[in-house]
Amino acid sequence: MNRFRMLFEKKKTAEKAVSAKVEMTENLAATMQLKGRTIEKTIVPEPGKTILQHAKDHEIDWQHMCKRGTCARCRCQVMEGLQFLEEPTQAEHSRLDPEEFDEGFRLGCQAVVKAPGKIVARNKTYF
Ligand code: FES
Repeated sequence: MNRFRMLFEKKKTAEKAVSAKVEMTENLAATMQLKGRTIEKTIVPEPGKTILQHAKDHEIDWQHMCKRGTCARCRCQVMEGLQFLEEPTQAEHSRLDPEEFDEGFRLGCQAVVKAPGKIVARNKTYF
């Protein structure tokens, strides 16, 4: 192998290592901290799943009943990471007041994770 080729390969290897390190750091930052009635856990968010699905899969005592956006038992306040969730569904717009959206409230059964990132949410029902 000529010298130029060796330098080129060495540079490519270094770039791959930096890229892998950046990816690892991003994955570590992608956590989801969920607080149910009595149980709080930090888990890895899975895009495509709702907040409620995450809570149920990790045995967090998150209140819910209908799972279609009408009872609001799954209502939660998202303290961090709203940008990592899909936009509110029609069911959420029908059930929640505009002021609640301003304060970060969502319905856990409707709020779907769209991208990995840090999300902090707490189950807060009306009663
Ligand atoms: S479980 Fe009823 S609104 Fe989410």
